Amino acid sequence: MRLSPPFQWRLLVVVVMALTVRMVNGGEYFKAYNVSYDHRALKIDGQRRILISAGIHYPRATPQMWPHLIAKSKEGGADVIQTYVFWSGHEPARGQYNFEGRYDLVKFVQLVGASGLYLHLRIGPYVCAEWNFGGFPVWLRDIPGIVFRTDNEPFKAEMRRFVKKIVDVMREASLFSWQGGPIIMLQIENEYGDVESSYGQKGKDYVKWAAKMAVGLEAGVPWVMCKQTDAPEYIIDACNGYYCDGFKPNSNNKPVLWTENWDGWYTTWGGRLPHRPVEDLAFAVARFYQRGGSFQNYYMFFGGTNFGRTSGGPNYVTSYDYDAPIDEYGLISQPKWGHLKDLHAAIKLCEPALVAAESAQYIKLGSMQEAHVYRNNGSICSAFLANIDEHKASTVQFHGQSYTLPPWSVSILPDCINTIFNTAKVGAQTSIKGVDIKAMASAKSATNELYMIQKEKPLVSESWMTLKEPIGVWGADNFTVQGILEHLNVTKDRSDYLWYITRVYVSEGDIAYWKENVVSPTLTIDSMRDIVRIFINGQLIGSSKGDWVKVVQQVHFKQGYNDLMLLSQTVGLQNYGAFIEKDGAGFKGQITLTGFKNGDVNLTHSPWTYQVGLKGEFLKLYATDDNGSSGWTNLAKDEVPSIFSWYKTYFDSPFGKDPVILDMSSMGKGQAWVNGHHIGRYWTLVAPKNGCQETCDYRGSYNSDKCTTNCGKPTQTWYHVPRSWLQPSDNLLVLFEETGGDPFEISVKTVSVGTVCGHMSEDSYPPVHMWSSSYINGRLPASQMKPVMELQCEDGFTIASIEFASYGTPQGSCQAFSTGNCHAPTSSSILSKACKGRNSCNVEVSNSIFGDPCPRTVKTLAVKARCEPSSASTLWYTGLSEV
Ligand code: GAL
Repeated sequence: MRLSPPFQWRLLVVVVMALTVRMVNGGEYFKAYNVSYDHRALKIDGQRRILISAGIHYPRATPQMWPHLIAKSKEGGADVIQTYVFWSGHEPARGQYNFEGRYDLVKFVQLVGASGLYLHLRIGPYVCAEWNFGGFPVWLRDIPGIVFRTDNEPFKAEMRRFVKKIVDVMREASLFSWQGGPIIMLQIENEYGDVESSYGQKGKDYVKWAAKMAVGLEAGVPWVMCKQTDAPEYIIDACNGYYCDGFKPNSNNKPVLWTENWDGWYTTWGGRLPHRPVEDLAFAVARFYQRGGSFQNYYMFFGGTNFGRTSGGPNYVTSYDYDAPIDEYGLISQPKWGHLKDLHAAIKLCEPALVAAESAQYIKLGSMQEAHVYRNNGSICSAFLANIDEHKASTVQFHGQSYTLPPWSVSILPDCINTIFNTAKVGAQTSIKGVDIKAMASAKSATNELYMIQKEKPLVSESWMTLKEPIGVWGADNFTVQGILEHLNVTKDRSDYLWYITRVYVSEGDIAYWKENVVSPTLTIDSMRDIVRIFINGQLIGSSKGDWVKVVQQVHFKQGYNDLMLLSQTVGLQNYGAFIEKDGAGFKGQITLTGFKNGDVNLTHSPWTYQVGLKGEFLKLYATDDNGSSGWTNLAKDEVPSIFSWYKTYFDSPFGKDPVILDMSSMGKGQAWVNGHHIGRYWTLVAPKNGCQETCDYRGSYNSDKCTTNCGKPTQTWYHVPRSWLQPSDNLLVLFEETGGDPFEISVKTVSVGTVCGHMSEDSYPPVHMWSSSYINGRLPASQMKPVMELQCEDGFTIASIEFASYGTPQGSCQAFSTGNCHAPTSSSILSKACKGRNSCNVEVSNSIFGDPCPRTVKTLAVKARCEPSSASTLWYTGLSEV
């Protein structure tokens, strides 16, 4: 049989993967090596290393995505992958371990090793991480006498058992460095220093115990504790934050490690979307290595998705994109990824000098300018020149030469002479992701969004079925007790939902009293989280949301007995703070009715009936083996949106291999499943109208409110459906909708990079990767090197057309370039010739290519190119693989 070229390729990929797997099963990725450290750096087999680490949380992606994510991290310059370990996923019920699927930690670590990268495993087991309950399994609350994260025997026993389990699993799979595996470092606890004082002396004792317990497991690699100033001598205390230059560990024998560099931030339902500008991020990283740092991890390099009910709280969204260099779907985000790649390459060229020197030579260059010079006794010398002035550029003298430093920037000079990189000068391309490449072509008018809005809507389906969720009690397992029970004590977090139902008697006198006084009674709940929906006699009369907020709701009753039904809902359990096991959920304090004729009615101690969860959840309406006989009816197109409804349909997968999303902007709040996989909670809660910035100024200290977008729009409307969860056709989509929405408007789309742009001046630095050691050692004249614009579409895509090109004084940015007074007329044809039909292309930015359209003016080249799938790749159906 003759295979068409793409299939030949796929066969090759399969063969290579099979070989890799064999190697993986053999256990050894590296020759066994040992890891130690001194005051300057981690040491691999005695050799100090300057390391760059990329944070990826394995359950926030699928195993099919892992190889690609690891490869893109490596290509972006990472030496190390860092992950937490997610206890709640690995031990869903006490003593029942799960290391399958997205929780196949061994496979993840093996893949990291097979790609030649190291791994930093942060076991915690408290991880925070915007993960449900900070990573703790919810059953842990029920261990008698337990108090989390303190000197408490029941807690310590459980914690030790789990940490030991993980160390044992890693050891059995030969994944530690001394076994030839990738694990070079571990972590115990997480930012305990933030909460330690809440636990008094017991907190201090717990730190000592945790450290000793961890080291006692004899894993054979160093352990860190982050944000732990009282970490014992044998544990490295590390820094977390937006900036960690100037951080000093608590002993002179420990290296300076930065376990979490927050390169973006997480998002709350109804919140704006945070973005951290890459110029500031690169500045923070360069400053860190400049001032003696030796290990830095991006939290996150890939953020991913909080599938199922794994997102933490209060109220974190399903997407954990984090504005990371690799986006939620696994696509690289430009210019973030590319600029960091250049930065990493520049830092790596300095590594020999950085590790040779015991410390830097400090040179003050100005009031807000400084140099740190690293050299050994011989000829190696590397320097970092910083301008920490937030406003002004500065020209400084260094070693007899002058250097101009943009505001809030660092220049990197691997040879102490040539600047090969400045953190504020972005040479990397910008890319604009679009949905559905076919629709993209017609969507000529770019919006100000990162993503382009498409014109036509590929609806997920024309035919839907529906089923009503009962309001109130639905199952035999309901029970009635006196008083208000704490939500989690009842649900054990098996569901977000818990019904609280009681009866209220209203007399004729009450009704008359309300009429006379033109008042209605009021329900007051002292304190509530995260959502309550209030029903009377089956009718929804109001909802509230918040984090331990008071609820005051006017109610209407009929005469006689009334059913008051409160649906308490969690939207991600608390993941940060002291005593999270005591925080709980649902209601606190009193529940009262005021305004009755004979005075207030206190319901706090009344009999309440409890029903955990939804009927549909417990019937598993979302499962693929549901036989369809359970009462589904056809949904008419003009049917009014209804609350508390289940919807289902079948849809075909989009062709190609681009990531798939569901656009749920027509819906309210609920949860969605595809082929039985829980893709997460959805909610079209809208971000505040104000507080977003028109333009984002990278200069000055970043905080998560600084460069936000998406004001006045729903926080999240796109929901990632991993390709490996799809089959070519008849994919079952099931939704539970709480507040009403239009499923007919739900669409399925693919996301891809539709446009790439470059913007570069003729006095930019040449690409970092062109600086070979021959230039740096002065054997070749660096002046021969010119800036080069590099453009690249995603794999499988080619540049179909050049939509804009101007060498001269073009204006604007990728969304809307325009030519200025000076413009080389050959710009477009030169770019077309160099780029059209190719996946990537390079064009030198100089007069020698374009001619000089305006002498004595510094010229820039601006280019906007459209990427389209190469013809071969459109034929691929890769529904079963992301790689
Ligand atoms: C840190 C914490 C991480 C994560 C981060 C915010 O304080 O250690 O787990 O929660 O904040 O994204």
